[in-house]
Amino acid sequence: MLQVIGIDAAYGHARVLHDVSLELEEGEMLFIVGRNGAGKTTLLRTIMGLLRPLKGSIKFDGGDIAGLSPEELYHRGFRYVAQDKKVFGSLTVRENIEIAAYSSGEPLSRAVDKVLEIYPKMRDFLNLKAGQLSGGQRQILLIGQALVGTPRLLLIDEPTQGLAAVVINEIAKILKRLKGQLSAIIVEQNLPLVTKLADKVVVLKEGKVIATLREASEICNTDLLEKSL
Ligand SMILES: Nc1ncnc2c1ncn2[C@@H]1O[C@H](COP(=O)(O)OP(=O)(O)OP(=O)(O)O)[C@@H](O)[C@H]1O
Ligand SMILES: [Mg+2]
Repeated sequence: MLQVIGIDAAYGHARVLHDVSLELEEGEMLFIVGRNGAGKTTLLRTIMGLLRPLKGSIKFDGGDIAGLSPEELYHRGFRYVAQDKKVFGSLTVRENIEIAAYSSGEPLSRAVDKVLEIYPKMRDFLNLKAGQLSGGQRQILLIGQALVGTPRLLLIDEPTQGLAAVVINEIAKILKRLKGQLSAIIVEQNLPLVTKLADKVVVLKEGKVIATLREASEICNTDLLEKSL
């Protein structure tokens, strides 16, 4: 469904991605791993249309999408959950969900249900200011918002970063439930979680893909993954 073919991306003169390619089939969950500064976020931002590749192409359902705006891609079902986990802190949780409902054209009640389906406890927080949520709850709210409308491709940047083990388990459960229902590209440094959920793993180093793991036997081998980082 998605093909990234030989893309380069840069901030000004600083080239960050070099000839990056990856392929995602419908319903697959692909993880991107790599050290800090490897270019993981830049790759997600480029796929989401926030950064235009200098070369190469990005195809979705067979058509070239490089150059389309994030808004156009949103309407095609792209959903980006950024690394900074930003919510509208002075608005309530319900109002945050309302923004996703408005953007996607989905009725608010259905949008709220989608968030509650992945995390029933959010019902108690609907009228709370989103700024009062914990980091983990915020992350879950953002994933829930990404499910509003008709998502086809989730791009999630480090969903478990900085979270406690209990919350990481909660998020892992949510991702496990989504597996197979949606296509997803997830940046993640938590290798046990990656090996549990990944259909494919792309290892980025200094802006280049140095390994693509497709076989379960390779993906389950955290030693192999650690070595490639
Ligand atoms: N807005 C920007 N302007 C200039 N350089 C940037 C910008 N954002 C990132 N970079 C640089 O691009 C490189 C890749 O950054 P990127 O954020 O994609 O890495 P990352 O793999 O996501 O790292 P992390 O694990 O820390 O999130 C780094 O050298 C970074 O300093
Ligand atoms: Mg990053």
